Amino acid sequence: MNETVIDLKGIYKRFYEGEPNELEILHGIDLEVKKGEFISIVGASGSGKSTLMNIIGALDRPSEGSYILGGTDVCQADDSELSHIRNKEIGFVFQTYNLIPRNTALKNVELPMMYARHKPSERRKKARELLELVGMGDRMSHTPDRLSGGQKQRVAIARALANDPSIILADEPTGALDSKTGRLIMDLFHDLHEKKGITIVLITHSPELANETERVLTLMDGNIISEARGATYDLRQHTVGVQ
Ligand SMILES: Nc1ncnc2c1ncn2[C@@H]1O[C@H](COP(=O)(O)OP(=O)(O)OP(=O)(O)O)[C@@H](O)[C@H]1O
Ligand SMILES: [Mg+2]
Repeated sequence: MNETVIDLKGIYKRFYEGEPNELEILHGIDLEVKKGEFISIVGASGSGKSTLMNIIGALDRPSEGSYILGGTDVCQADDSELSHIRNKEIGFVFQTYNLIPRNTALKNVELPMMYARHKPSERRKKARELLELVGMGDRMSHTPDRLSGGQKQRVAIARALANDPSIILADEPTGALDSKTGRLIMDLFHDLHEKKGITIVLITHSPELANETERVLTLMDGNIISEARGATYDLRQHTVGVQ
């Protein structure tokens, strides 16, 4: 369990680099995440959490520093290598779900497997299994406009799992949900972590939710200013379960 899967060293991110309005947002971030860890990142709005998450997820490149993601040097990789590693290794979950409106839940979950060129019959079967897993087996043919926020987020989590990622990156996944629904989503993450050993990096504004994770990093003005151990979490209090 000691393998490092996310290894950031001296990461800087600057926007408008070299221009008069250059903006340095991250100022030398060091962060190591071990395989199977569940960590959270907290911090005020504008502190750089999403900017850091975009770098961790190889959606964006750092301006300076080194980043090894699952053995791949992200700074050296070309765009097609990055999109391959994103599709294969990482499942993204966002605050606003980012589902395709005209596609059913089933089609939304199938999509990453289409990009990965899975056979139609295989991807349909897998998408069904994943929707069952997140408790959405009875809503597969619904389009997102016919689903509640919590249901949409469960579909988004099923989609994030489509290509068996080793890492889930979640940027405020409960931010748009009421606290009870947020609780269900958080329980689902705990299940995926404990039962499937998925590495999870969670961005949240909720200190209570952050405190349930193994490590809580606080970002302030583009620097990690503290790192704390979270309290332990009792899996038995779960309201939903991953079979
Ligand atoms: N593409 C960009 N171009 C220029 N500035 C950007 C860009 N992306 C982010 N920023 C700036 O970087 C800073 C950090 O933004 P970021 O989205 O990372 O904050 P955050 O911690 O995720 O905030 P929130 O909690 O509100 O989501 C902000 O000042 C933002 O304006
Ligand atoms: Mg953000």
